Amino acid sequence: MRRAKTWLTILLIACACMLASCQSVRKEEEKNSLRIGISLYRGDDTFINNLCSILEEKAKEYERENGIKVTLDIQDAKGSQNTQNNQVERFIALECDVLCINLVDRMDASVIIDRAMTAGVPVVFFNRQPVEEDMERWNQLYYVGVDAKETAVLQGQMVVDLYKEHPEAIDRNGDGVVSYVMLEGETSHQDSLIRTEWSVQTLKDGGVPIEKITGGIANWERSQASALMEQWLSEYPDTIELVISNNDDMALGAIDALERAQVSGVNIVGIDGTIPGLEALENGSLLGTVSANKEIYASAIVELAASCVLGETMPEEYPLIDGNYYWASQEILIHEN
Ligand code: BGC
Repeated sequence: MRRAKTWLTILLIACACMLASCQSVRKEEEKNSLRIGISLYRGDDTFINNLCSILEEKAKEYERENGIKVTLDIQDAKGSQNTQNNQVERFIALECDVLCINLVDRMDASVIIDRAMTAGVPVVFFNRQPVEEDMERWNQLYYVGVDAKETAVLQGQMVVDLYKEHPEAIDRNGDGVVSYVMLEGETSHQDSLIRTEWSVQTLKDGGVPIEKITGGIANWERSQASALMEQWLSEYPDTIELVISNNDDMALGAIDALERAQVSGVNIVGIDGTIPGLEALENGSLLGTVSANKEIYASAIVELAASCVLGETMPEEYPLIDGNYYWASQEILIHEN
């Protein structure tokens, strides 16, 4: 009887070992492929659209270099948090290994985090930063973006340097004051407020004598910025010398309005280095922009997504700050002449 019991125990242990090894083989198999669910706040946002194309290239590159099949499921939330929450639900049902989320409402990440935590699926947020309280809920939540203050200081510094070298090129009417208008992004976006505040502060600190004529919110959009600029040009004729824009698309909207009104000689600075932004820089209608290194930005998202699924540490070239944040580098780009 005792011997039978011993055999039974041995048999049970052997079964348990076999089961564990089967599971680990299955895990090994899973490691050869990676399914990433990506949801964009708006697929028609120029910056997000540009970044997403590079993200697709980087996923292919990762696949080639690491021999791990990467499948991307990219969805457009079209500005609805509810739609995005449903997309996340579907990603989880489809057994995505990791989610990359460009939040619609950065203050409203809780539903997504709840679902992800319950399913044990890590989340890499990007570009629209969840509030700290949400980020602290789980150690499998990450954020990839650019530092908004750094962007703004670079934008301000670009004008300070140009003013120091050629004051007449910035103070166009030579009255000793640079009169500017400000185009701002969405009020709820972490970048808008900080960019507005710090680009102006940098201009002041750098000794540029500035005076604000007016400013307005154009929600990152070219058409909204164009309408605002058209209005300002008629309200303040021959006054605006500089347009400071929170992004390239709104800067392009201001350029559209200037072209329509056949006004020249106004300097415009943007942020992003989008494809149309760089074209405007090339033809001189945009004086300068601050461009995030989008190659690194997109690679960091892919590397981070892969490493948290595969249980690996992030490659050294992508240092995480405070454990869960990666900040992509940025540079000033100025029109050559
Ligand atoms: C970019 C904007 C973009 C926005 C979307 C910002 O960081 O500068 O161009 O529209 O993100 O969230």
